[in-house]
Amino acid sequence: MPHAKPALLSSFNQRLDLVQPSAIRAFDNEVSAIPNILKLTLGEPDFNVPEHIKQAAVKSITDNDSHYAASNGTLAVREAAAGFLADRYGLTYDAASEIIVTVGATEGIYTVVTSLLNPGDKVLLPTPIFPLYIPVTLVGGGEPVFIDTSANDFVLSPDMLRAAIAAHGDKIKAIVLNFPSNPTGVTYNEAEVQALAEVLRETDIVVISDEIYSELTYDASHVSMAKYLPEQTILLNGVSKSHAMTGYRIGLLAGPAELVAKLGLIHQFTITTPTNSAMAAAAEALGTAAGKADTLAMKSEYQARRDFVYQTMTALGFEVPKPAGAFYIFAKIPADFTQDDVAFARDLAEKNQVAFVPGSAFGPGGEGYVRLSYAASMATLQEAMSRLTAYILAGRDD
Ligand SMILES: Cc1ncc(COP(=O)(O)O)c(C=O)c1O
Repeated sequence: MPHAKPALLSSFNQRLDLVQPSAIRAFDNEVSAIPNILKLTLGEPDFNVPEHIKQAAVKSITDNDSHYAASNGTLAVREAAAGFLADRYGLTYDAASEIIVTVGATEGIYTVVTSLLNPGDKVLLPTPIFPLYIPVTLVGGGEPVFIDTSANDFVLSPDMLRAAIAAHGDKIKAIVLNFPSNPTGVTYNEAEVQALAEVLRETDIVVISDEIYSELTYDASHVSMAKYLPEQTILLNGVSKSHAMTGYRIGLLAGPAELVAKLGLIHQFTITTPTNSAMAAAAEALGTAAGKADTLAMKSEYQARRDFVYQTMTALGFEVPKPAGAFYIFAKIPADFTQDDVAFARDLAEKNQVAFVPGSAFGPGGEGYVRLSYAASMATLQEAMSRLTAYILAGRDD
């Protein structure tokens, strides 16, 4: 096994010293060693990929679809994506020039952030937030500016946005909006989207609109930021959550052609193009009536699970904003449990073998909360809730 020449250890990009491995993964690894642990830590749908989507991938392989595709993705999947965005959210994107197929939404995030940032640029991050945005901003030479939304039911208000803009001015290059939200499940209604768009329209801030959970809204249809602010929005989406296709690694990026042409450079230099068979599967998922029906069936299961977990945890004394989308519960630890969220999550995992992620992993405003993913079978969730109930009741007896 080779060991690195010692001098090389200090020759890396120094911005890597600013970042840590994912706190979610670190906690997940830590609790994985506990025998019989039941983990609701990762945002991973438990469903299998629907058969007709798998067959589209198989057909691509047997048809010898094995050569480099266009860098921005096959036209078939871009056309399916354009149709999907038009049909579901009333958005108009040209498949040839305004859409890039990425390796999961993750590559879209990396592509957008690194394409936009110059050293010292600031990125507004309403928190709690999907933590990946923090290291990607730092490695891209930018500075994350957190806006803690916990006092406003985890919704960024126009006033909070105006205050951040006033405080950080021209240095702000971009804002990340993610709704339905990971980790809170909160989403924004039409009036809220419109009100934020009005504030942002007065600025040159690019909106990185992460709508990866847009198909999983329970009470009302999703409203895209791109509907009200298309000229300065880069939309991120994909099939990971809507079709339980996390391992296929197919995401979408859409925006005005001039911006997409720039983003296409980093995308091309980083990944060349996604995998053909995965793109064929995504075209089937996004472009067919059967693909639409798959998501509806999964969504109704998620909704029943959400209701069960929400009711159980609320009855135990957790304060839970009722999730309107995605598949997470973000719950405030009951006041009679005085440990911080990391100690609480660790103690619960060690004593009663059920694992949630400490809320502080999601940035300011997440302290004192835990996040769990209900993208797990009802039987698993029932067992998890019974272990949680035993832990809480035992804690109250002490
Ligand atoms: C808000 C958010 N954005 C992006 C991603 C990454 O999605 P993908 O698996 O398509 O890269 C996730 C995954 O958990 C997420 O929660």
